[in-house]
Amino acid sequence: MDRLVIRGGNQLKGSVQIHGAKNAALPQIAAALLAAEPLELGNVPDLLDVTTMLGLMQELGVTAERETGGSLLLDPRGARNAQAPYEIVRRMRASILVLGPLVARFGSARVSLPGGCAIGARPVDLHLKALTALGARVEVDAGYITAETNGRRLRGGRIILTSPSVGATETAMMAAALAQGETEIVNAARDPEVCDLALCLTAMGAAIEGAGTHRIQIEGVDSLHRARHDLIADRIEAGTYAIAAAITGGQLELIDAHLEHLAAVGAVLEHAGAQIWPTDRGLMVSRTGPLRAVDVVTEPYPGFPTDLQAQFMALMAVAPGASVIRETIFESRFMHVPELGRLGANIVLQGTTALVRGAAKLHGAEVMATDLRASVGLVLAGLVAEGETVVHRIYHLDRGYEALDRKLVQCGADIRRVAQ
Ligand code: EPZ
Repeated sequence: MDRLVIRGGNQLKGSVQIHGAKNAALPQIAAALLAAEPLELGNVPDLLDVTTMLGLMQELGVTAERETGGSLLLDPRGARNAQAPYEIVRRMRASILVLGPLVARFGSARVSLPGGCAIGARPVDLHLKALTALGARVEVDAGYITAETNGRRLRGGRIILTSPSVGATETAMMAAALAQGETEIVNAARDPEVCDLALCLTAMGAAIEGAGTHRIQIEGVDSLHRARHDLIADRIEAGTYAIAAAITGGQLELIDAHLEHLAAVGAVLEHAGAQIWPTDRGLMVSRTGPLRAVDVVTEPYPGFPTDLQAQFMALMAVAPGASVIRETIFESRFMHVPELGRLGANIVLQGTTALVRGAAKLHGAEVMATDLRASVGLVLAGLVAEGETVVHRIYHLDRGYEALDRKLVQCGADIRRVAQ
């Protein structure tokens, strides 16, 4: 397994091309199952999770090939209702996103329960509740979800989500697109990736209103057709580089990033001492003055995203003062805390709250990546730690960040990837 070797202390300066959003790519690749005609997706990032999802789609008879312009052509004409096996689903939980499209297209589906991961139990009960509300009979047995419509078409209904789950909203929207009649999703997730999926489904011929609000209405159609859609930029990748600029006291232009997708993050970074403003290519983030400790609570979009919590904690680890960081989305998303401690960070955990006392300096050490966003939090800390930091198991990084080390080197970081 590869590792990253980082020598801290360099200020990052330059520009970074933000790739297409991982969490927009995964549901839209699954959505290709809904039509009997090809779906062409532009701005698809080259990530391990995308490769895993394409592997699952291949199992389901959907072929994928990169076009010359870099877009991805998905061809579902050979799609068959195979099962989504445990060995794929356990590697990537987002595999659950094929469940809704399989039931909507074929009237039945058999998908392994994803199981938990490093950040929490990750139940899928809201996905199953959505399909039940649309008329599917859903059972869970021996680690597999079986959903059946007994040959009938899904029918529209009201889906009330107990929490604004991103994945469950996406499952509901995709299944409802082909259901008979009107569907209403109440307490829907408002994330930009949900809106982008709605745009993709609309391009395929779906009738969707209200994406981006807590109430989404879908008028089912008989079939969906060939379409092309370009993915939005990855706001979490952009937020990660914004924090990289702040933590190193540098200045980075984030090409294709949108301030409105990072409003909560921008506001917090300004309180922490950074400056952030839109440019005609995207977003500029700079820090010249001292850092300040700021409290953060992670919340559903448009609040501060849980996917930037670890990265922000690395920043607070070197900000003078005390910062309280409360994680409200996942129950154990603090695997990065003991690893940051190895670099000299002063962090005390109390349940789902971390008290971070900014250290004057962090010192390089060997650390272990545990999950995607924790890993990049350790890289950010390594960029500012004195001496050498080695981040092991960086395949976690490759799941969600395209060419992270190359992009950082281009901005002045002293970082190299070493094959184990
Ligand atoms: C999506 O995960 C993202 N993944 C996650 O990004 C992100 O952290 C999360 O949304 C929250 O923003 C993708 O889009 C592929 P949820 P998802 O359903 O859909 C509970 C990354 O690093 N819940 O909004 O799985 C759940 O346990 C990843 O890129 C249920 O209880 O998140 C969690 O506490 C990590 N029942 C909360 O809701 C359900 O049926 C939010 O989960 C579903 C979720």
